[in-house]
Amino acid sequence: MRTVRTAALAGLLLATGMSVAWAAEGDVDYRKATMNAIGGHLRAAATIIQGKVPYKDDLGFHAAALRDLARSTEHTFDKSSAGGDTKAKKEIWDKPAEFESVRMTFVTAAENFAAAAAGQDEGATRQAFAKVAETCRSCHSTYRSQ
Ligand code: HEC
Repeated sequence: MRTVRTAALAGLLLATGMSVAWAAEGDVDYRKATMNAIGGHLRAAATIIQGKVPYKDDLGFHAAALRDLARSTEHTFDKSSAGGDTKAKKEIWDKPAEFESVRMTFVTAAENFAAAAAGQDEGATRQAFAKVAETCRSCHSTYRSQ
């Protein structure tokens, strides 16, 4: 059964011209999808915070989603995702302690933003949002190739 499924998957990958290095591909795809989800919620939150749309009530769930997605990045940088069609730099796996500290700064910033967005203080929410955006830039500038 398993062999049949594996063969079918191999056929599908070949038919679509995808790489057969599927183990890493899956992990890289998962990371990119997670990052794009993070990017979507950040942009939606920015649009609300900048007053371009009147949907203040939605800010809480965008912030909570960012917090949960940030926490999930624990899985998006597994060693199996090094290589393939990725912009992730090898320093992530060469210097894991340094990378983990940057990742945790992001997780904490996203947790603080979610907590602030659940309250009433718009100034604090704005500041917490700016901190999250700063952590995206800081990780990308060191660990993502342009
Ligand atoms: C701890 C490091 C780190 C943090 C923090 C981080 N990113 Fe990323 N991000 C990466 C890396 C590495 C890549 C490259 C992924 C790849 O090509 O495999 C990436 C890729 C992306 C991509 C492109 C995905 C694609 O389809 O190629 C987007 C969009 C993105 N990040 C948005 C964000 C936003 C928005 C934030 C902050 C809210 C953020 N990221 C925080 C490391 C990080």
